[in-house]
Amino acid sequence: MLGSRFLYLDRKRVRPILGGIKSHIFARPIDEESVGGNVYPRYCYSVYLRHLVMLHQAGLGSNPEVVAELGPGNSIGTGIAALLAGANEYYGLDAVAYRSMSPDSKLFDGILDLLQSCADIPSAPEFPEAKPPLASYAFPREVLSPERLSKALAPDRVERIRRAYQRVGERQGEILFRYVAPWTDPSSVPLHTVDLVFSQATMEHVEDVDATYAAAASWLKPGGCMSHQVDFRSHGLASDWNGHWAYSDLVFWMAKGKRPYLLNRQAMSEHLALAKRNGFETVSTLLVAGGPGVSREHLASRFRHLTEEDLKTSGMYFAARHA
Ligand SMILES: C[S@@+](CC[C@H](N)C(=O)[O-])C[C@H]1O[C@@H](n2cnc3c(N)ncnc32)[C@H](O)[C@@H]1O
Repeated sequence: MLGSRFLYLDRKRVRPILGGIKSHIFARPIDEESVGGNVYPRYCYSVYLRHLVMLHQAGLGSNPEVVAELGPGNSIGTGIAALLAGANEYYGLDAVAYRSMSPDSKLFDGILDLLQSCADIPSAPEFPEAKPPLASYAFPREVLSPERLSKALAPDRVERIRRAYQRVGERQGEILFRYVAPWTDPSSVPLHTVDLVFSQATMEHVEDVDATYAAAASWLKPGGCMSHQVDFRSHGLASDWNGHWAYSDLVFWMAKGKRPYLLNRQAMSEHLALAKRNGFETVSTLLVAGGPGVSREHLASRFRHLTEEDLKTSGMYFAARHA
């Protein structure tokens, strides 16, 4: 590490910071980038089933009819998984409209095959980074019972889902996919119409966490719930998992550059407090322990107040119910 407690500059990670500075001058399109695993059927299936299992274990609704996802990334494959698992409507809301969004029949058929064959949930080593970790990766029959699956995967229903996926925004009977990107206005989703708002590796990126939980609260039906996997690590901006909390606001602003999003740098307790402030009751959490990381005295001043638990937590799954 270079510098003092006042200026943390990580020698190995100067490049991304310089990348941010350069982007102030040369704007670079982000819509062609690959941002996650959502182009792979097994990844989409793994992510959506993990959320269903965690919701079921928390005693929350694991058979949602209307689902909204924040930050689907390069595809709406998790939405395909949601509809094939029984939901009727899906909203994908992203900050960036990715160009890879055109319908992909291999993605659709891959997810369909996995559900039809009641495949186990793909886990490490195939997706070492996918979270939350589960106690069992066996196909979750307690959530996706044979009765639920036979209704959800009835051939005429699957065909309606396929057509709806090919024509996003056009209703096919009870089935509808919507994709809104960039979404800026909470009214993109009608008030009190959604059963589940979920996200995977997204809530650490949203610029305004408070406004995003407020929007989720406005979308949910009474008693609806949220399910989020959040990654608090520095995403390559520092060698230490929490090295981004050592950068001053000025250095971090330079690192962000003109990118539409980077990291909001909110820690675990701040996410939970903002969810609570917007009317959510957190029902379950599953924390990922970070390594030692940068010590409190070397953090930027506004991060030195973080709790001991925040300083040990590099990721969190949480499920919350809206009153
Ligand atoms: C690391 S990617 C994860 C993508 C996908 N969920 C996955 O697991 O592969 C983060 C995603 O969050 C999106 N994002 C950033 N800010 C957002 C916001 N305010 N609202 C919705 N999505 C946002 C990004 O565009 C990107 O698609």
